[in-house]
Amino acid sequence: MLLLNRGEQVLLGRVALGILVVVLSAGCTEVEPRHGEQRSNPYLTSDTRHPIPLSSPAGQEHRAVMLQHLETIQAIVNALVEEDYELAKGLTESHLGFFMHRQAMAQQQSENFPPAYYDLAMAHHAAAEELARIIPTKDLKQILPQFNNVLKACVACHLEFKVKSGS
Ligand code: HEC
Repeated sequence: MLLLNRGEQVLLGRVALGILVVVLSAGCTEVEPRHGEQRSNPYLTSDTRHPIPLSSPAGQEHRAVMLQHLETIQAIVNALVEEDYELAKGLTESHLGFFMHRQAMAQQQSENFPPAYYDLAMAHHAAAEELARIIPTKDLKQILPQFNNVLKACVACHLEFKVKSGS
């Protein structure tokens, strides 16, 4: 084993830190080419989202479901933090899974949701079912990637659609 004296350890530490700083700043430059310039927000600039024309009550209902989704995500993370895997699985299944999907479908059929919306909703519920399936492993290394997939499905739909209600 390589034994270093205190001075060498400090030096090694500085070199490692130096490399880290270079790597990190290189990473940042890639994302933000010009210093101080704000990255464009797809929801503000070049908004290419498809508007779903919903009646005012349906728009309100849709919004309530979405706010509930966010609360569910928080409740699931909370359950995972507290290592209550059974609760985490139950919340995922009952609030984001196929059961929820069937209920949502019934409501959406009477409104103007385009087919692509159903596909994204379906992908979202499928990702949630997969998450529920993996939670009992109690292995965060398996749970987190699947959790990420659920969140990716949220984001994918948000980039594609917006609600145009009240018309
Ligand atoms: C199939 C499409 C779809 C999926 C999947 C989806 N959303 Fe949404 N969500 C929307 C649309 C459309 C809006 C309205 C956006 C707008 O009009 O600007 C919205 C709005 C929201 C809002 C804002 C509500 C408000 O008060 O205006 C939140 C919060 C939200 N979603 C959370 C989530 C979360 C969390 C998930 C995943 C667990 C999720 N959504 C999955 C379509 C989706």
